[in-house]
Amino acid sequence: MDEIAEIINFVEEQLADDQTGHDFSHIKRVVKIAERLSDAIPGSNQMIVLVAAYLHDVIDDKLVENTRTQKKLVIDKLTELDFSSEYTNQIMNIIEHMSYNKNLVNHYQLDINGQIVQDADRLDAIGAIGIARAFYFGGHFGDTMYDPNQLPRTNMDKTEYRKHTTVINHFYEKLFKLPDLMNTKAARKLAAQRKKYMENFVNEFKDEWQ
Ligand code: ADP
Ligand code: NI
Repeated sequence: MDEIAEIINFVEEQLADDQTGHDFSHIKRVVKIAERLSDAIPGSNQMIVLVAAYLHDVIDDKLVENTRTQKKLVIDKLTELDFSSEYTNQIMNIIEHMSYNKNLVNHYQLDINGQIVQDADRLDAIGAIGIARAFYFGGHFGDTMYDPNQLPRTNMDKTEYRKHTTVINHFYEKLFKLPDLMNTKAARKLAAQRKKYMENFVNEFKDEWQ
């Protein structure tokens, strides 16, 4: 699949300098999980799943300065690779609506391919790698690890969500909630195991803190 090789080059270039836990290794893990989930779901379109998984962080507003320019860049790339406008629209629709912050207030209904990619991205945010990514992200943006006097926030909109928090609070504000938000059965099962692992970690962390 030549198109996939071209897309890999494009994404690697776009995310080359990332130091927030959204580097190409994150993309590869998401692609792998998405591929596995898609294998077990007959109605999914694996080409769309793979391309959306590869591209999902290239237009993220916390990672890139100008999302409008990035979106155009992605559309131009897909067009150059001869993707039909129908495929391109489906892929753009997924990557524009799948993020956690976009779904805090609204709830976007993704098609099955989007649901798979969203689950895969969310699985990579939890478990052992999820813990590592959260601390890496918090360190990059200058957040403290933990402050027992700062309570986790609830009912956040996107602006509120993007404000500083502690890394431990991020577990309550997002990571522990992800298992219930999974779209597919297989992802929900995996997510439940990963949540237990994170709960043990947070309990141990708080014990050691005292
Ligand atoms: P989305 O792009 O789906 O909205 P986020 O931007 O919330 O997702 O998160 C992407 C990754 O960055 C996840 O692994 C997440 O845990 C991590 N992350 C996001 N916000 C924080 C934060 N305030 N502290 C620690 N990690 C964070
Ligand atoms: Ni991602």
